[in-house]
Amino acid sequence: MRYHGREVEVEGKIRLVMESALSARDRVGVQDFLLLENYTSEAAFIENLRRRYRENLIYTYIGSVLVSVNPYKELEIYSKQNMERYRGVNFYEISPHIFALADNSYRALRTERRDQCILISGESGAGKTEASKKILQYYTTTCPTRQNTSSIRERLLHSNPVLEAFGNAKTLRNDNSSRFGKYMDIQFDYKGAPIGGHILNYLLEKSRVVHQNHGERNFHIFYQLLEGGDEQLLKRLGLEKTNPQHYHYLVKGNCPRVSTRNDRNCWRIMTNALSVIGFTEEEVEELLDIVASVLHLGNMQFGENEYGETHLTTDTQLRYLSQLLKVEGSDLSEALTHKKIVAKEEEMISPLSLEQALSARDALSKAIYGRTFTWLVEKINKSLAFKDEPYFSSKSSSVIGLLDIYGFEVFQHNSFEQFCINYCNEKLQQLFIELTLKSEQEEYDAEGIAWETVEYFNNKIICDLVEEKHKGIIAILDEECLRPGDASDITFLEKLEDTLGGHAHFVTHKLANGKTRKAVGREEFRLLHYAGEVNYNVNGFLDKNNDLLYRNLKEVMCKSGNPIMSQCFHREELTDQKRPETAATQFKLSLAKLMEILMSKEPSYIRCIKPNDAKQSGRFDEVLVRHQVKYLGLMENLRVRRAGFAYRRHYEAFLQRYKCLCPETWPNWEGKLVDGVSTLVKHLGYKPEEYQLGRSKIFIRFPKTLFFTEDAREAQKQTVVITLQKSWRGYRERAKYQRIRHAVIVIQSWWRGVKGRRKAKRRREAADTIRNFIKGFILRHEPRGPDNEYFLDHVRFSFIMSVKRNLPKNVLDKTWPRPPPALTEASAHLHRLCIRNLVNDYCRRIQPEWKNQLEQKVIASQIFKGRKDCYPQSVPRLFVATRLENEEINLKVLQTLGSDNKVKYGVAVTKYDRHGYRARARQLLLTGSAAVLVQEAKVKQRIEYSALLGISLGCLSDGFFVLHVPTTDSKQKGDLVLQCDHVIETVTKLAIMADMINSVNISQDSIKFAVARGKEGVIDFICGAELRVVKAKNGHLSVTAPRLNTRA
Ligand SMILES: Nc1ncnc2c1ncn2[C@@H]1O[C@H](COP(=O)(O)OP(=O)(O)OP(=O)(O)O)[C@@H](O)[C@H]1O
Ligand SMILES: [Mg+2]
Repeated sequence: MRYHGREVEVEGKIRLVMESALSARDRVGVQDFLLLENYTSEAAFIENLRRRYRENLIYTYIGSVLVSVNPYKELEIYSKQNMERYRGVNFYEISPHIFALADNSYRALRTERRDQCILISGESGAGKTEASKKILQYYTTTCPTRQNTSSIRERLLHSNPVLEAFGNAKTLRNDNSSRFGKYMDIQFDYKGAPIGGHILNYLLEKSRVVHQNHGERNFHIFYQLLEGGDEQLLKRLGLEKTNPQHYHYLVKGNCPRVSTRNDRNCWRIMTNALSVIGFTEEEVEELLDIVASVLHLGNMQFGENEYGETHLTTDTQLRYLSQLLKVEGSDLSEALTHKKIVAKEEEMISPLSLEQALSARDALSKAIYGRTFTWLVEKINKSLAFKDEPYFSSKSSSVIGLLDIYGFEVFQHNSFEQFCINYCNEKLQQLFIELTLKSEQEEYDAEGIAWETVEYFNNKIICDLVEEKHKGIIAILDEECLRPGDASDITFLEKLEDTLGGHAHFVTHKLANGKTRKAVGREEFRLLHYAGEVNYNVNGFLDKNNDLLYRNLKEVMCKSGNPIMSQCFHREELTDQKRPETAATQFKLSLAKLMEILMSKEPSYIRCIKPNDAKQSGRFDEVLVRHQVKYLGLMENLRVRRAGFAYRRHYEAFLQRYKCLCPETWPNWEGKLVDGVSTLVKHLGYKPEEYQLGRSKIFIRFPKTLFFTEDAREAQKQTVVITLQKSWRGYRERAKYQRIRHAVIVIQSWWRGVKGRRKAKRRREAADTIRNFIKGFILRHEPRGPDNEYFLDHVRFSFIMSVKRNLPKNVLDKTWPRPPPALTEASAHLHRLCIRNLVNDYCRRIQPEWKNQLEQKVIASQIFKGRKDCYPQSVPRLFVATRLENEEINLKVLQTLGSDNKVKYGVAVTKYDRHGYRARARQLLLTGSAAVLVQEAKVKQRIEYSALLGISLGCLSDGFFVLHVPTTDSKQKGDLVLQCDHVIETVTKLAIMADMINSVNISQDSIKFAVARGKEGVIDFICGAELRVVKAKNGHLSVTAPRLNTRA
C-alpha cells in the first residue's frame, strides 16, 4: 500500500512521511507549501520559492493552487513526453507542473461532469499568457480526438498568434503584454475530445493605437506587417518596408524593435494561422487594408488657413485611405475636419480646430482598430464553434474555461486603461477570496467544523470603491461624462474628492497629508489596491470613457466598401437615439458577467509571479517577489489550507464515489448519508485526526488520505466493473435467451399446430376412408353410387394391383387372382390380354425350329387332345425331325423314291397283316407326296397322300393307327394297320403332310378297316392292365391297352 500517513500520529511525522514521499520526486525545497515546516513565515515561503527557482523548478503548490514563477527562459519541461507523464496521474504523485493542474481539471470535468475554469492571475509579465498557451497545448495534445474534429485543435492553437498580433504589445513590463482580456472556453464532448471553443474579449487598450509611452510599442501587427509583408503587398497598401519610423503612430514610444521579438517570424506564423482559422484570401486582404489604413490615418496632417479653418495637407494618405477603406476621399476629408451635430432633426456642420481634427482622427483610428479587433474575435469564434449544435446543446459536453486577463500593472503614468485593468484584477482577487479564503472559512462554520479563523485582507472595499452604484469611481465618472455643462477631467477629480474623500483606499494631492502629497500629482488620484498603490492621472478619463466618434466619421465608415468595416459600423448606430454605455460601465458589466461565468464553474488557480522587472532569467528580486506574495494573498491562502482540510465533499457525492469500497455501503446505503460516510471511512480505517464530519460534508485533512482512498477505488473499480459487466452481460444474455426461448416456443407452437392439424386432417380423412370403406363394403352389391364407389374403386384398384403383383410368369402359368364379382368379366379380359401378351411375347421370341415343333404340337393337340389316352404323355416329349436317319434306311429305297421324294420323316412301325394280324417290322417313310411302307430294301406299299382317305386310331394308350386307302385302287392292298411307339408324332406329321388333319378319326372302341375290296377288318380296343395284341376269336384284332388318364 502506498499510503503510509496512517501509521503516523503526530503532525510533524505525517509531514515527514509526506515530504519524503514528495521530495523523492524533486528534492529541492518542498513541492507543496503545505509541507513547509514554518508555514507562517513569509521568509521561509520566499526562500522555498527562491531555492526552487534557482534549480529551474518554477512550479510549487499551495494545496491545489499552482504558484508559477516566470523563468524568462525556455525550459525543457513542456515536451510531449512530459505531457504523457502527467496524463491521468494524481495531482500530488508527481512534481508540480502546470500540466498536472490542467490534467486535474480535465479529469474533474470527465469524472464529475462539472464545468471547470482555470484562473490565471499575476501582474503584467508574470507569465499568464504563456501558462494559458501551455494548458491549451496540453489539451490539444493529450485529449482523445474525435472524428472530424482534429482541425479544431489546430484552430484552437492558431487563434493565439492572431489574437496576440492584434491584441498584444510591448510594454515596459512585458515584451508581449496582453492588452485585452481573454476568456476562452474549450468545449469537450462526452468522450473528452475537444470539439470547439469560444472566446470572450475584454476591453482592448485602444489608446495604444495612437499613443505609446516611452519604450513601449503599438500592437505587434503593425511591426509584423512592415517587417514581414512582401514588397508587393506593402506597395498595394502604400506602406514602406521595414521603416516604422515613418509612421506617427509607431514612433511615440521610440521603440521600433524589441530584441526578444522576431516580427518577421511572427508575421509568417500569424498569416499561416489566419488561413488555418479559415480566413479567405480576400478577408486577409481586407484585414490588412484596415491595418494599413490606421497607419495612414496616423500620418494624416492638418493645416490651418488664415481664417483658422483646418484642412488636410496630406493627399497621398487620403488617396490610400479612400482606396483601402473603400470610402469617398472627399467625404472622409470633410468628416475629419468638420463636425456634424443633429439637433431636433436639423443638421449643423461646424469646422473643427486643428486640435479637434487631430483628436477626431485619433478617435477614428481607435474606433477602426478596436472594432476590427472585436470582429476578429467573432470571426475566430465562428471558426471554433462546434458545428453540430444539437449535439453541443445536449448535456453531453462540458467546458474548461481559461482566463488570461491583463495583469495588475503600475507605470509612471497610469491612465484610464490601467484603472480598468487594475480594477479587473481587483475583481479577480475578490473572486479568489470569495472562492477560497472566505468561502472556505464560511464553509467550516456552516458545517460546524472546529476551525481556527485566519485573518486575511478582503479587497471588497476596493471593488466597492470603484464600482458601487452612485458612489463608486465609475459612477462618478459616468455622471461627469453625461452631465451637461463644462465637465472636464479636473471637475471629475474634484467630484471624486468630494464624494470619496476620507475613504481608506482613495487619496488625492488635495486629500493627502504631507508625505503622501508629494507622491501624488495635482491631476492624479491614488488608489490603494490590494496589490499596491497606483496613481492615476485623470487626463483623458472623460474622453476615453465617452469613447466618442463624431457622427459624420461614423457615417463615412458606414458607407465603407470594405466588408469588415461595414460589419463593424452599423447604420443603426446613427439612428439609435439611446446613448451608448460608457466604456467603464461596459467594462464593469462585462466583468460582472465574467464573474458569473467563473462562479458557475469549478475553479483552479494559477498564481503567476514575476521574479524581476528586468525580464531576466535567473534573477530573483526578493522585494518584488515578496510584494507579489503579499498582494496575491499566498500566505493567507497557505494558512487557510494548513488550518483546514485538503479535501471536502458532500456526503452524497463522497458516498457515491467511494461506496464500492465498503461491503455495507455497496451497492446502496439505505440509511442516513452521514452514517453511510461514517461507516465507509471506518471501514477504510481513517484515523480520527484525518477527517471530520460536518453537517453536509466530509472534510479530509491530508491529501494522502484521499489518495489512499482513490487508489483503493481505482483497484476496486476493476471488481466493480467486472461485477457490472457480469450483471449486464447476464441480463443481456438472459434477455436474449428469453427472446430466443419465446421465439422457439412460438415457432414450436406454430409447427406443432401445423403438424397437429395435418395429423387431425389425416385422421379425419382416414376415418372418412374407413367409413366409406365399411359403407362401401356393406353396399358392395348395390349399384355403383356415392356410397359404395370408394369401396368399389378400392376393390378394383386392389384387384388391379394384385393382378399387377401376381401376373403369370409364363404362358403355362395358370395362376390368376380371383376377381371380385363385379370384375369377373374385366378379369377375364385382362387375363386374356395378359396371356395374349405373354404368348405374343413368347411367339416373338420363338425360333423357327421351335415354331415348327409347336405348330406340330398344336396340330397334335387339335387331333388328339381329349381323344387319345396317350396324348398327354406325348405332349412334353418333343417331336423329332425323323426317327430314322438316312443311314438307317436302305439305300435302294431311297433311290427308288428318287430325289424328288426325299424322306422327310421316317419311323419304325409294326405292320399287322390284314388277315392274320401277324406283326411285321417295317419302316414308315413320309415323303413330300406319299407315305411309304418299307421292308428293308423293298417298298411294300406306297400311299399317295392324295389317295389317303383317312387315318383312324383308338382312343387308348396304344400305338395303333390305320391308314385308309381307297379299296378301288388296284395298287393298294387295303387299309394299312400299323403300330408305332411314337404314334402321336407319326400321325401328326402324316396328317400335316397329307393335309389330313381333319380326317383323323379316333375311335372309342373299334376301328373298321378295309382288308380288300368289300372286306373289312375290325380292331377292338379294350381297356386292360397292359398292352396286349391278339387276334380275337371273332376274328377281330383285339388291342388291350391300359388307360393312362381318367377322362372327365
Ligand atoms: N513558462 C515560461 N517559460 C518560459 N518563458 C516564460 C514562461 N512564462 C513566461 N515567460 C516569459 O515571460 C514573458 C511574459 O509572459 P506573459 O506574456 O505570459 O506574461 P503575462 O502575465 O501574460 O503578462 P501581461 O499581463 O502583460 O499579458 C513571455 O513573453 C516569456 O518570454
Ligand atoms: Mg498576457
